[in-house]
Amino acid sequence: MFATKDISVTKVEHSKLQNLNLDHLPFGKYFTDHMLEADYENGEWKNVEIKPYQPLVISPSLAALHYGQSIFEGIKAYKNQKGEAYIFRPIDNYNRFNISAERMQMPPIPEDIFIEGMKQLVALDSNWIPSQPDHSLYIRPFMFSSDEVIGVRPSENYKFLIILSPTGPYFNAPIRIYVEENYVRAVPGGVGYAKAAGNYGAAMYATAQAKKKGYDQVLWTDAFEHKYVQEIGTMNVIFIIGNKAITPDLGAGTILAGVTRNSVLTLLQEMGYTIEERPLSIDEIIDAYKARELKEVMGTGTAATITLIKELRYKDFTMKFDTDKWQVAPMVKSWLTDIREGKREDKYGWMVKA
Ligand code: COI
Repeated sequence: MFATKDISVTKVEHSKLQNLNLDHLPFGKYFTDHMLEADYENGEWKNVEIKPYQPLVISPSLAALHYGQSIFEGIKAYKNQKGEAYIFRPIDNYNRFNISAERMQMPPIPEDIFIEGMKQLVALDSNWIPSQPDHSLYIRPFMFSSDEVIGVRPSENYKFLIILSPTGPYFNAPIRIYVEENYVRAVPGGVGYAKAAGNYGAAMYATAQAKKKGYDQVLWTDAFEHKYVQEIGTMNVIFIIGNKAITPDLGAGTILAGVTRNSVLTLLQEMGYTIEERPLSIDEIIDAYKARELKEVMGTGTAATITLIKELRYKDFTMKFDTDKWQVAPMVKSWLTDIREGKREDKYGWMVKA
């Protein structure tokens, strides 16, 4: 049985940190000095190591490359005002990781490896946590099947890794969204609720089409009627309509249960908004826009944090917003930032010390 004390640590001789300017970092391009790696073999997790960030040596027959048994998570670490490293809601991502693993017929990862390993890794590379506004240390845990065989079946061997990327904002400005009504992200009974790598690969074609039309991302609609909105490319979506915050519910299993989504809904409720998680049709959104009841639209995600949506295009109808005048999304964003940076009481116990 694996225990946290079994994590072996090999440190780099020379940190790469001095070569990097931590101001104005792009998202996910640079990686810290160390990574965590573990193997699943003969029915158990073993060889848990923190070691210098380095390439993996893989076989051309690696199962994950052929059949896509591959899942991941996105988590962020911040520094508080005392310079201490804290991780935002890692337990929620840990739980979701194992939900994804189950759906993809992969073994669950023990908390001792995912959470304790992550804490040790983040503590070791805590100098890499940027302190500029909208910057953070992005944590990417992932797992893939590692059998070297091209028969179609669940692997017997898996690899789990955690890598860290000091990172700036995913979007630098409010974005434009194309409501998708041809291509589909997820169907009930499918893998939409899992953070499966293939969900993102499968979305790229439709997103590229929307980009050609001048939009940043698509807002997916349901697979049967293309009537009910689902989620945006890399984010959940929340609409402020009157004094309500309305977001698609998770019931059909076609939407990722976002940790940022849940955090934002919690804070919006604290601010006095009525929260409605329910099917939300594009017609209802358009009606609310025409009635001037649709106040704000925001995307929520670990990478994207809270992203303001300045335009929504559905068929020939365009909804435009003056995001400079918005108050709700900027306020919820600043509450969340303050909790993460230790400037506001963490009353929900979201921050975990590395
Ligand atoms: C995240 O928000 O962490 C994601 O995983 C979305 C994207 C970067 C793939």
